[in-house]
Amino acid sequence: MYIWFTVLAGLALLSLSFIRTLFPYLGDDCAYILRSIKLGIRLTKYKRGKQFYSVLDCFLDAVKSHPNKIFVHFEGREYTYGEVDKQSNKVARALQTEARLKEGDAVALFLVNEPSFIWTWLGLAKLGCPAALLNVHIRSKSLLHCFSCCGAKVIIASEELQGAVEEVLPTLTEQGISVFLLSEACSTPGIKSLSDKISHASDQPMSRDLRANVTIRSTALYIYTSGTTGLPKAAVVTHERVWAASFIQAVCGITSEDIFYINLPLYHSAGFLIGMVGAIERGITIVLKRKFSASQFWDDCRKYNVTVIQYIGETMRYLCNTPRKDNERNHGVKLAIGNGARTDIWTEFLDRFGEIKVRELYAATEGNIGFINYTSKIGAVGRVNFVHRYFFPYTLIKFDTEKEEPVRNSEGLCIEAIAGETGLMVGRITQRSPFIGYAGNRQQTEKKRLRDVRKKGDLYFNTGDLLRFDEMNFVYFMDRVGDTFRWKGENVATSEVADILTLANSILEANVYGVKVEGHEGRIGMAAVTLKEKDFDCSHAYKQVVNYLPAYARPRFIRIQPCLEMTGTFKMKKVKLVEEGFDPAHIEDPLYFLDPEKKSYVPLTEEIYRAIGAREIKL
Ligand SMILES: *[C@@H]1O[C@H](CO)[C@@H](O)[C@H](O)[C@H]1NC(C)=O
Ligand SMILES: *[C@@H]1O[C@H](CO)[C@@H](O)[C@H](O)[C@H]1NC(C)=O
Ligand SMILES: *[C@@H]1O[C@H](CO)[C@@H](O)[C@H](O)[C@H]1NC(C)=O
Repeated sequence: MYIWFTVLAGLALLSLSFIRTLFPYLGDDCAYILRSIKLGIRLTKYKRGKQFYSVLDCFLDAVKSHPNKIFVHFEGREYTYGEVDKQSNKVARALQTEARLKEGDAVALFLVNEPSFIWTWLGLAKLGCPAALLNVHIRSKSLLHCFSCCGAKVIIASEELQGAVEEVLPTLTEQGISVFLLSEACSTPGIKSLSDKISHASDQPMSRDLRANVTIRSTALYIYTSGTTGLPKAAVVTHERVWAASFIQAVCGITSEDIFYINLPLYHSAGFLIGMVGAIERGITIVLKRKFSASQFWDDCRKYNVTVIQYIGETMRYLCNTPRKDNERNHGVKLAIGNGARTDIWTEFLDRFGEIKVRELYAATEGNIGFINYTSKIGAVGRVNFVHRYFFPYTLIKFDTEKEEPVRNSEGLCIEAIAGETGLMVGRITQRSPFIGYAGNRQQTEKKRLRDVRKKGDLYFNTGDLLRFDEMNFVYFMDRVGDTFRWKGENVATSEVADILTLANSILEANVYGVKVEGHEGRIGMAAVTLKEKDFDCSHAYKQVVNYLPAYARPRFIRIQPCLEMTGTFKMKKVKLVEEGFDPAHIEDPLYFLDPEKKSYVPLTEEIYRAIGAREIKL
């Protein structure tokens, strides 16, 4: 009996190790699949329940079970779950009185990273109101556009953004918008202070009836994404999507003991959904930063006993660029969640800062497909896994980068890319993986839909991202399709920049693209332009871009061309321009450089080019 048992156990062990050699990622795959299935079951329960259980309900349960646990550390102050809850009741009550909000009214939040961002949003959720999260860097025309496309009648702004609000105040007033500032007082006519009203309001709980009609399919948030064309688009984020994004922390194995460091802006889905809402789902403590700071990063991690950090490729690189210190491996961080880390930086990061598990994600706010690297494979964003693919059918299709469109066969269907080949990622639109689209922008929504992919009449979401699968089923992010690029962690829509450039006096047409700069993540903005007149009006072009574009979107290089090259389908050709870059020694066209000190575009000399390469000029 005993012998048989030993033999059996031995055989089992042997076959286990045999399986492990054959399928080295089986364990990781299974663990991931199990966690995902568990979360899928939970989401289904929330969906089917008599009363919809939202993230707000989850927060209220956390308040009940640990009211005195710290929810947020911010600039030396701490706020417990209980305090944040009370504060959000006050906000909800102040807004009820001042703005007469009712369930379903959208409210735009124009707020910097501060704890008030969190309780203002919770207050709105208690009233059943969706929040539109405005990017705090946008101004004037873009700001008005973002504001109006979500249909909000109310905007709440941080005190430090008063100037930006005043710029667009005449238009807001004309449209009958209520404008609130999170300040104790405000003397500008047309802007009401809100903080004073909040501090006088009662902190008694809000009735659940106020949001009785909210379901899992209701809009919870509008989050802006830089579109492939035109101005930013408001991606409609339903409560279902909020839940799904909040589960990423759980999928990564974060437990209630963890301390999460948020240094990304809360107006993006990474900081807001994965970071803050995910923290509510886990019931953990967060350390909120006003801005990312490379020099304070590890000190903060030590001071607050941070165990999980969030990154984007750029911040990882900034950390690697800081001077070495003796104590830089002395910290409790064990996990990093984010996206956009390149293999070289990823390796350097681990070398310098010690054994940190990196969970690289691939997902878009409005997309219907995402990946997460749950194995220890440097550079990969995830794995192709049959369970995932069964529930969220996606495919990688051959893409013609010259024409910027999918390659189609004689029947007009797309062709699947083979392992090792770069292709366009598309996700089938189904009940389970819907594409909700953009608020008030049917045309843009339609543009992200791709038909006749595998069969006539089928419908896919076009991510606009180029990925590659390898033979081992690892997934790698390669690039974006030409009409957007990333710089300083923000997406830049080339046509939005082109629209602004063509409003400059001397510019006739503009073709905007991003170019690589040695030692930087992403691509920096560059534009090839044709002129209306003989001379380029440098200072007017400078004023135009500085007035209308956030710093990260401004083209730092301008290339004057006699004419712009078009493709057969009248799209501007970018691929060659991108490859040629901005080296004056190799480009005959006149080149200009945006010089913030001279407040103008200046001719791009070899000296400037060298100084950029040597990092004497900061980009
Ligand atoms: C919920 O919907 C019902 C029916 O449409 C409506 O009568 C009720 O006023 C709504 N409740 C709220 C709080 O808006
Ligand atoms: C961090 O952990 C140490 C040791 O466990 C503890 O003394 C300290 O109070 C913690 N710091 C914070 C901010 O929680
Ligand atoms: C992703 O790859 C890195 C590379 O080292 C690894 O450390 C990390 O654990 C991987 N991510 C996951 C989710 O395991």
